[in-house]
Amino acid sequence: MNIKTIGIIGAGTMGSGIAHACAIAGVEAVMQDVSESALEKGFKTVGSSIERLVRKGTIDDAGKTAALARVCTTTRVEDLASVDLIIEAATENEALKIKILRAVDAIAQPGTIIATNTSSISITRLAASISRPEQFVGMHFFNPVPVMALVEVIRGLRTSDATVDAVGELAKRLGKTPIGVKNSAGFVVNRILCPMLNEAVFALGEGLASAEEIDAGMKLGCNHPIGPLALCDMVGLDVLLAVMDVLYDAFKDPKYRPAPLLREMVDAGLLGRKSGQGFYSYAG
Ligand code: CAA
Repeated sequence: MNIKTIGIIGAGTMGSGIAHACAIAGVEAVMQDVSESALEKGFKTVGSSIERLVRKGTIDDAGKTAALARVCTTTRVEDLASVDLIIEAATENEALKIKILRAVDAIAQPGTIIATNTSSISITRLAASISRPEQFVGMHFFNPVPVMALVEVIRGLRTSDATVDAVGELAKRLGKTPIGVKNSAGFVVNRILCPMLNEAVFALGEGLASAEEIDAGMKLGCNHPIGPLALCDMVGLDVLLAVMDVLYDAFKDPKYRPAPLLREMVDAGLLGRKSGQGFYSYAG
């Protein structure tokens, strides 16, 4: 199946990043969210990340205009009825995702593939909530989507080969490298990455070193591009906590328990970059 048009549910960090990738690759994208203000913010994010490419000379102003013209926005799920693929990129909450997936399933054409950008929730379980589990797949992008080259393609128990192939092909057209992953909590990357980030929060909470020192340790000692606590702020502390909760629930192994400081910060509304404050301050 040749995917030409894409619907994206959610205009947040991941949804707008996916819209950017589509726009640059010449793929039409319809971004849906519940409020006009969320859509405006998401569309502005697409505009500023495309502007980075203009500043670097990768594309010119005409290229930017053409790319932005490929992205349209709507508050109505029904407006996604004619697309070839719908990618759900809403908040990492299973009940919410199921509600959205059922609404999408009800309006999408019979041939439409439905994908989820979930960071950790079972693809098999999400698939069971809709009428087309064979045409349901995990398509997990990484943050920031315009820069990160990976897409995990996660096969649920009933996902068809044709669905996996179509989404893998699309990932390549978007300039990404797909890896095929078996359905399991956290898939591959977050299964490995998130416990490391969580451990950095434990280290901070136990007073082993300051946030700056912990981050310097992993940057200078392991050549990581940014430190783990700065990465927590980028990913979103609420997202990290949700992933750790999923890992802990799935494996019942104490090694996945979320750091108390992580939960405390989420409870306080300190979510990282998106809230202006996490382990570092982003005010102003
Ligand atoms: N949108 C578009 N482009 C961006 C961007 C954004 N939000 N942020 C950075 N860039 C681009 C810049 O334009 C720049 O491009 P060029 O090199 O072509 O000029 C490049 O990225 C580097 O940016 P900077 O020099 O400003 O900053 P940096 O050197 O600190 O790099 C980074 C930024 C690429 C994000 C780097 O910090 C990095 O690789 N961080 C780790 C990211 C990571 O691990 N992501 C995975 C998160 S886990 C996840 O997403 C899974 C999940 O489910 C939770």
